[in-house]
Amino acid sequence: MRVLVVGGGGREHALAWALSRSPSVRSVACAPGNAGIAEVASLVPVGAEDVDGLVTHAAGEGYDLVVVGPEVPLALGLADELRERGLRVFGCSRAAAEIEGSKAFAKEVMARAGVPTARWGAFTDEAHAASFAGDLLRRARRVVVKADGLAAGKGVVICDGEEQAREAIRSLLAGDLVGGAGARVVVEEFLIGREASCMALVDGERVWPLAACEDHKTVHDGDVGPMTGGMGAISPTPVIDGALAARVEREVLAPTARALAEAGRPFSGVLYAGLMVTADGPRVLEFNCRFGDPETQPLLARFEGDLGAALLAIAEGRAPTVAFSPRAACCVVLAARNYPGPPERPPSGTRSPAVVIEGLAEAGALEGVTVFHAGTRRVRDQVVVSGGRVLGVTATGADLPDARSRAYDAVAKIHFDGMHFRRDIGARGEPPARR
Ligand code: AMP
Ligand code: GLY
Repeated sequence: MRVLVVGGGGREHALAWALSRSPSVRSVACAPGNAGIAEVASLVPVGAEDVDGLVTHAAGEGYDLVVVGPEVPLALGLADELRERGLRVFGCSRAAAEIEGSKAFAKEVMARAGVPTARWGAFTDEAHAASFAGDLLRRARRVVVKADGLAAGKGVVICDGEEQAREAIRSLLAGDLVGGAGARVVVEEFLIGREASCMALVDGERVWPLAACEDHKTVHDGDVGPMTGGMGAISPTPVIDGALAARVEREVLAPTARALAEAGRPFSGVLYAGLMVTADGPRVLEFNCRFGDPETQPLLARFEGDLGAALLAIAEGRAPTVAFSPRAACCVVLAARNYPGPPERPPSGTRSPAVVIEGLAEAGALEGVTVFHAGTRRVRDQVVVSGGRVLGVTATGADLPDARSRAYDAVAKIHFDGMHFRRDIGARGEPPARR
């Protein structure tokens, strides 16, 4: 079949790469793609958020399957419009995408479904939000303040005490931190534990769990510094053993799918549960309505079988075949100068010089290594930086230490001006014993 992938980040490179290796897939196109995706797919110059442009292109080409990567086009109703045109789509409806687009909606679904999550409140009023934060801070040293809308993983502030909470509430409501995302804030209990990302293919009430992953959200080693979209990920993770995976399916993924179906918003696509595994069991931090980024890079490095056939099955409401290699995978994100802050602006009247990436071929030639591109662009015969997260250097190995060491050997071959990355992806070790 002929497949169109929508998006142009590391997740979409991993999807296009795995689709291009699928026996059922004859060709892959990607809109808009990036320099790495161009090696496995033909690029279509239509932006991932240009719903009209994408519908016109996809309907005109008559693809056999459209796979939507990012959340924004799903929240804009791209999957609904493509389905109306009779196309088969892997990606959820606008109504189901609310599970990611509104944290308050997600909390309501969890309450209805009995899914464990942090105590929370949603507020449009600064004083009420601050007073609720004060209540939570009488029981814990910290509290979490989140923008209610889509914020690319950056609209979350962990606050030490009331003063910080008040400042976070004020700036999120004012939209200072994430432009426009802050008309409403969610204030919630700070949870202690280890994070894990558990995704599942979902068709209505039926769920097929994928291998568990672990993201590394803050920009600096040791889990400190500002939140990012994710600085690296591993799969599998020592946080989720077989028993816990079964519990997550039973207590989180299946009841959430059921609650969405019962609410008249049946989910079709991939549901992502961001979890904190606490001493009392898993608690949901967030749901996403799409594959995780960077989790998809190590996840698909381990996928066995025909990804195209699996995604088509979901698009057609059939049971997919899902299997993963017992090998481990580790993805280290190489970020641009100043990420997760905005790119440095050049002096007015001048253009930013292109930042050339060196060593891609050498890194990619190492055994077990795939360099997924995120923010890259080709300019003549060079690959240059074009986003905050630039590359996801991914390696598989016999076990996690082997995969880590292969990934970091590959990282050592790559260089670009301003490049920074975490040196401790996959190095957290075993979690403490839990109940
Ligand atoms: P979210 O976008 O809601 O997943 O939040 C982004 C990140 O903030 C999570 O991956 C956690 O690292 C952290 N975080 C969010 N909510 C909490 C919480 N209730 N307790 C502790 N950390 C949290
Ligand atoms: N890596 C976190 C996310 O995809 O939201």
